[in-house]
Amino acid sequence: PTLYIVTPTYPRAEQVPEITRTAQTLMHVPNLVWLVSEDASVSSPALLSYLNESGLNTVYLRVQMPSKYQKVKNKPRGVANRMAGLNWVRSNGKEGVIYFADDDNTYDIRIFEQIRWTKKVSMFPVGLVTSLGVSTPIVRSGRVVGFYDGWIAHRTFPVDMAGFAVNVEFLLQRPQAGMPYKVGYEEDGFIKSLGIKASEIEPLAFNCTKIWVWHTQTKKNDPAKPVAQNNATIGTNMDILK
Ligand code: UGA
Ligand code: MN
Repeated sequence: PTLYIVTPTYPRAEQVPEITRTAQTLMHVPNLVWLVSEDASVSSPALLSYLNESGLNTVYLRVQMPSKYQKVKNKPRGVANRMAGLNWVRSNGKEGVIYFADDDNTYDIRIFEQIRWTKKVSMFPVGLVTSLGVSTPIVRSGRVVGFYDGWIAHRTFPVDMAGFAVNVEFLLQRPQAGMPYKVGYEEDGFIKSLGIKASEIEPLAFNCTKIWVWHTQTKKNDPAKPVAQNNATIGTNMDILK
């Protein structure tokens, strides 16, 4: 089965480092289509050249968060671009598995070989989510019987975006499935739209006993200042680095 990895990304100083880290993980994964979906008004040239040089089987998509959400403080991050990836898979995929992989998470390559065999919807633990340190399905005798998460709220599926994968044929049979622009409820809304019961979910990572994905976050530095130039730097690499 083909793995369709949908990565939402957006322009900022950390974008190329994040994409480099994710790409170099995915270089270990065979039979892969990497959909890099950028939330931007114009494509980032450094991103495009990295993708072209990477040798990975990539699809670049660009879409913007609807302007009414751009204005609010707590934004539904990555929704428009994940939906663009999902719609690309709907149009171009026939079999395989789709997984939403944020650009800043940390992935153990063992998770990719397990999600590849997802029949409907699979789930697995995600580390470094809330102060509990892990978000995971609770598994008894190989069945999902509940969820452990620091923010259950009123969610039927209180899981992280990095904690589940969906079979493409299963998705194609559900043309109405989609992700809501509802902060905190993106995962729950999407999984509910698939019409799956908790009892049908396939627990991975050895019945959810291994953490193979972490919700890491990169510290933001202060906005970049222009590189200082003077007569002594003209004609050197500093011309390009500015
Ligand atoms: C958490 C969840 O892990 C995300 O899956 C969820 O989308 C997000 O919360 C949310 O709903 O706010 P978090 O680490 O807090 O993620 O958020 P980011 O990593 O900043 O953003 C999630 C993804 O969306 C990243 O891949 C990021 O590159 C992308 N993003 C972020 C955009 O495409 N546009 C933005 O304006 C911001
Ligand atoms: Mn993140």
